[in-house]
Amino acid sequence: MNNLKNLRGTVDLLPDQLIKWQNVEKIVLEQLARASINEIRTPILEMTELFIRGIGEGTDVVSKEMYTFIDRGKRSCTLRPEGTASVARALIQNGMLSNHPLQKLWYMGPMFRYERPQAGRQRQFHQLGVEFIGYDSVRSDVEIIALAWDILGKLGIKELNLEINTLGDLNDRLNFQKSFLKWLEINKNSLDLDSQNRISKNPLRILDSKNIQTQKALKNAPRLFNFLSEKSHKRYSNLKRNLEVLKIPYVENFNLVRGLDYYTHTAFEITSGALGSQATVCGGGRYDDLIKQMGGPNTPAIGFAIGLERLILLAGKELEIPRNTDIYIINQGLIAESLAIDLSRKLRNYDLLVELDLSGASFSKQFKKANKLKSKSIIVIGDDEAVKGEFIIRLFDQSDKGNEEEVISFENDIELEKWINNNLLAK
Ligand code: HAM
Repeated sequence: MNNLKNLRGTVDLLPDQLIKWQNVEKIVLEQLARASINEIRTPILEMTELFIRGIGEGTDVVSKEMYTFIDRGKRSCTLRPEGTASVARALIQNGMLSNHPLQKLWYMGPMFRYERPQAGRQRQFHQLGVEFIGYDSVRSDVEIIALAWDILGKLGIKELNLEINTLGDLNDRLNFQKSFLKWLEINKNSLDLDSQNRISKNPLRILDSKNIQTQKALKNAPRLFNFLSEKSHKRYSNLKRNLEVLKIPYVENFNLVRGLDYYTHTAFEITSGALGSQATVCGGGRYDDLIKQMGGPNTPAIGFAIGLERLILLAGKELEIPRNTDIYIINQGLIAESLAIDLSRKLRNYDLLVELDLSGASFSKQFKKANKLKSKSIIVIGDDEAVKGEFIIRLFDQSDKGNEEEVISFENDIELEKWINNNLLAK
């Protein structure tokens, strides 16, 4: 048993850590609900073909990072490396694009990429994704960026940088690619090996290289920006203007091409210096051709995904604090114990956090536990009380002095409700 370990790049999330995860998720989900975005859940396991066609064969994700295997039915299956392709497939397959072309959707869950694990980078990680399907106006680009920005803001995360770029449409990129390829052939030797290998597979990704020598050489390369049509230029200016109106600060990064092939026009990333080398907490962009390319109707779309592990690293310590216990039920003796169970069920109907002590330990030990949990109030049921059909209830604090106690009969729900309203819910 000692040799059994989790796989490299995967982690156990333990109860203490999950308090922060749950607090963060609660804030995120509230924000999504306020923006009228609906949830979608797609399978974690998909046909490998979906990602090859959706994300692109030349991308690192597809060519190097996928968890792919042949199942017992001899089908090639892949653990999803991201959510956008699956959402597009689900919408096409369920006929959701013909009658309800406009969809605002979110999803949250594990994704899998065979990358080299390091701080903020895992092989099983979690994403919150949002996709606006059927929207093509610049307003939807702005709304999606503002949504990502506000989710991070609601969590109190500061010092974020929004980087934006435009990748134009397919025509713009083809025009650029012709002259970029010519330049790459001539300047091949100034590039790092990885970038040289990309020339035939995915030349656009070379722009995103982190290699200093390559970055230096690229300064003299043709720029995609100069190959944009008038329309694409206008769209991009409009995006920048709208972000300025909303006072969302941005930086233009002409080398931001993203790691997935489906992007058109707007591409963006939100980074934080506090994250170290894996600085991107959110990445997204427009993908107007993906759904058609996957066999669906021509449907423009835009979305983003936030890496939850990185979000948790950035979120403040105050979110690590669990919700306080409202009532701790101290009980001892046979009759008392069964009455205590009954009472705890009744109390939980008031949406109170009720901790029922099941230890059978001495009263003083149970008091200590209530103290440790900083319970707002306690109920005490000993055999004496139980025989009389009563329990003691009172507010509780560190000193546990001067808090007036009340004795309430198990039958007297009205009195109990009054006490709860006056002492716990009214505060
Ligand atoms: P992505 O940039 O590949 O985009 O991933 C989005 C975010 O997921 C990253 O910014 C990062 O925070 C997190 N992430 C990615 N890989 C890892 C990893 N190995 N460990 C920890 N976190 C990671 C997408 O996945 C697109 N589907 C986003 C999108 C939605 N575009 C349009 N709609």
